[in-house]
Amino acid sequence: MTYTSPLPVTDGHFYRGSSLELRDVSMAYVDIEVIREVSIDVEPGTTTCIIGPSGSGKSTLLRGVNRLHEPTSGDVLLAGESALKMKPERLRTRVGLVFQHFNLFPDHTALENVALALRNVKGMSKSESLRVAAARLDDVGLGERSDHRPRDLSGGQQQRVAIARALAMEPEVMLFDEATSALDPELVKGVLNLMAGLAQRGMTMLVVTHEMGFARKVADQVVFMDEGRVVEAGTPSQLFDAPQSPRLQRFLSEVL
Ligand SMILES: Nc1ncnc2c1ncn2[C@@H]1O[C@H](COP(=O)(O)OP(=O)(O)OP(=O)(O)O)[C@@H](O)[C@H]1O
Ligand SMILES: [Mg+2]
Repeated sequence: MTYTSPLPVTDGHFYRGSSLELRDVSMAYVDIEVIREVSIDVEPGTTTCIIGPSGSGKSTLLRGVNRLHEPTSGDVLLAGESALKMKPERLRTRVGLVFQHFNLFPDHTALENVALALRNVKGMSKSESLRVAAARLDDVGLGERSDHRPRDLSGGQQQRVAIARALAMEPEVMLFDEATSALDPELVKGVLNLMAGLAQRGMTMLVVTHEMGFARKVADQVVFMDEGRVVEAGTPSQLFDAPQSPRLQRFLSEVL
């Protein structure tokens, strides 16, 4: 798919992204090490895309950042503060994760799906939660469909609801793991445009993606992982136009 970035965003909600630093992060499943001393710096308000072959550890690494799976060593710094020392529940309000499957409540409307998270996690009153949920659904272009249930929304629209739900927590960083790979091809672009809009409006984003066009257009930094390590990192043009390592050269020749 070719990806062209949307028009510059001049209005709407502005996000205040924080810095995210991964320092020598290692992770294992039981005793098999799958992430090996990964260091990545994401500056506030910038987007880093992680690319790499299947099984290279991209999902595991994102799960380590918000501690759905605990790193075995190293550190993750959110706005300079160790994420590994925070309460995981608190960390997950500050770092939103959106993955392939949206996990919306089927019996609740889009508005209720977002508002419920605000009441449960942030302890908001019902009226406040409905007000904030409506604003975030507006941000993702679903203001008109806030009373639809998930089954009455397209896959792309459901993914937008999931993104609105994460944004409602006012995260400082958003993690995306193949957020568009379960979508029908014609719906992919809308969600990618939404993500690009968040990037333009100041969110800090760490995005695992197979969409090389998106990585090239939207990323400030691209990281190529293989076998649990960072093999190469740099600007999109450094990685896509002048890959240094044979492994990245081979990977690009297979996916581009
Ligand atoms: N729950 C698990 N238990 C044991 N090993 C796992 C588990 N999840 C992943 N792994 C292994 O960890 C390694 C990294 O997997 P991971 O899912 O992070 O890769 P990935 O880069 O996200 O791949 P893909 O592009 O296919 O999503 C792989 O070798 C995988 O088999
Ligand atoms: Mg994965």
